[in-house]
Amino acid sequence: MSTIHKGLVGVVADTTAISEVVPETNSLTYRGYPVQELARSCSFESVAHLIWYGELPDAAALARLSEREGAQREVTRSTIGVVDRVPDNCHPMDLLRTAVSCLGAEDPAEDDNSPAANRAKAEAMFAKLPTIVAHDFRRRRGLARIAPDPGLGFAENFFHMCFGTVPAPEVLRCFEISMILYAEHSFNASTFTARTVASTLSDIYSAVTAAIGALKGPLHGGANEAVMRMMLEIGDPAFAGDWLRERLAAKEKVMGFGHRVYKDADSRVPTMKAAFVEMAELQGGQRWVAMYEELEAAMMAAKGIHPNLDFPAGPAYYLMGFDIPMFTPLFVMSRITGWTAHVIEQLESNALIRPLSAYTGLPQRAIPLAA
Ligand code: CMC
Repeated sequence: MSTIHKGLVGVVADTTAISEVVPETNSLTYRGYPVQELARSCSFESVAHLIWYGELPDAAALARLSEREGAQREVTRSTIGVVDRVPDNCHPMDLLRTAVSCLGAEDPAEDDNSPAANRAKAEAMFAKLPTIVAHDFRRRRGLARIAPDPGLGFAENFFHMCFGTVPAPEVLRCFEISMILYAEHSFNASTFTARTVASTLSDIYSAVTAAIGALKGPLHGGANEAVMRMMLEIGDPAFAGDWLRERLAAKEKVMGFGHRVYKDADSRVPTMKAAFVEMAELQGGQRWVAMYEELEAAMMAAKGIHPNLDFPAGPAYYLMGFDIPMFTPLFVMSRITGWTAHVIEQLESNALIRPLSAYTGLPQRAIPLAA
């Protein structure tokens, strides 16, 4: 019988030039640049340019990308109409999955898989997804939609569309850092899903729709929501250690800890944690920092497992004022850059992704005569 790589653990499925994860040094680079340095010195729009086009933009290229992004934020009445018909008690990821499908159905060039066409579609989704997420956020609160403001940058405009205001710089910066850190991570489950769909020569919207479905799960993007629910359930940092030990004794997974690739530590966590702590100090959110520290210490003592990016991102988004079910859609607004870059890369040297399976069912047999 062939060797089974359950969960594809340790399998190198293809090459990529977009990002590199090196678990031995806890490092993650996008196109060669360490992610923590990008988070320190770049805007999210610059990082999006890097991921799609391979280089950081100069001032003129960044201005052109920002102009294209600002000009494409509006979505059609028909997409808004579909969004408004989706029940508002469904998970926001369900809505986003449906909305991306609509964007594809509306695009007359949906099946043009040339790199130029797919880059244009990637930029369009990058511009439109925040508008859809913000609209959904407000409709669930019974609030009227706020139109995008092309005069504001990506992050400012998103807060404006959600809350009608632009928050303090440290809040904006924390949000932007989360967008940069979430943007790309090689062959994670949702990106591999997008590449699998692209490998059939389907369209980029279908690939993104499928990736959204994969990201929704709590073992992947859904963990950032689960982290905040867990923190709220614990309530007081003083109970965190006991709470965690009880879960481990019951053989339960604690969300926001562990990683398939990093076994030592997640390279993105120190940068996200620092931004979360800084914002929490200024916003009066020290309780969540204390909760973070208690849970992290208890997990390290009990199992030596480190937090992953979802652990600081969950409470950071909570302090920014977002509703918990919306945390994974925020991840989508960022990862759309990585997914679409991977679809384009997959199509550059495509091979249909079609693994084998080892059959364990009944041997071949005859259908009974009476059937
Ligand atoms: N809580 C408790 N135990 C854990 C955890 C955890 N979060 N993560 C791993 N372990 C234990 C696991 O029980 C197992 O122990 P043992 O060998 O004694 O049975 C060992 O560590 C190996 O775990 P595994 O599940 O086989 O490892 P994996 O590489 O398949 O899992 C993971 C990776 C991310 C699915 C897992 O760590 C997990 O379920 N974490 C919680 C969910 C989470 O936070 N997901 C976000 C991942 S990072 C962001 C992203 O890429 O989306």
